[in-house]
Amino acid sequence: MVISKSWLCKTEQDTEALGRKAAAAAVKGDCFALYGTLGSGKSVFCRAFVRHLTDAREVPSPTFTLVQSYPAKDFDIYHFDLYRLKSAEEIFELGMEEALYDGVCLIEWPEKMAGYLPEKAIKIEIRTENNGRRITISGPERLVNFE
Ligand SMILES: Nc1ncnc2c1ncn2[C@@H]1O[C@H](COP(=O)(O)OP(=O)(O)O)[C@@H](O)[C@H]1O
Ligand SMILES: [Mg+2]
Repeated sequence: MVISKSWLCKTEQDTEALGRKAAAAAVKGDCFALYGTLGSGKSVFCRAFVRHLTDAREVPSPTFTLVQSYPAKDFDIYHFDLYRLKSAEEIFELGMEEALYDGVCLIEWPEKMAGYLPEKAIKIEIRTENNGRRITISGPERLVNFE
């Protein structure tokens, strides 16, 4: 069952804390689709997620390589930034299928892969609200009801 919940993250640190909670609840095969305009905080969320589960400290946005992977204890994390994807089919060259099958995917600009986004994808929508961010997660219970 898919449920939704939203949080008002007033600061970048609040968004990082939410990213860490999502990381702690993630299991192999999870696919997170992050929606939000440029500068909304998708990469901030992803960076905190990756840092929570790996030793990586530098987690640059894969703007040009489009994907960067990180080994975590129980799975590999694949961080995609599809902003510069030229066609939806290009995801196959990026190894998206294997990543979806045996890793955990974080996908910025999932709109670019159109119908190839799995239906089970956990949706994370980020919107600016006042000076902060309203972050809505829609997915299974374990990824929505933290604590
Ligand atoms: N509450 C907040 N949560 C996340 N980022 C924030 C917040 N408030 C301000 N910011 C700033 O917004 C920017 C988000 O950048 P980034 O994560 O790279 O965006 P995106 O990946 O969505 O294009 C950063 O400069 C960050 O410092
Ligand atoms: Mg980004």
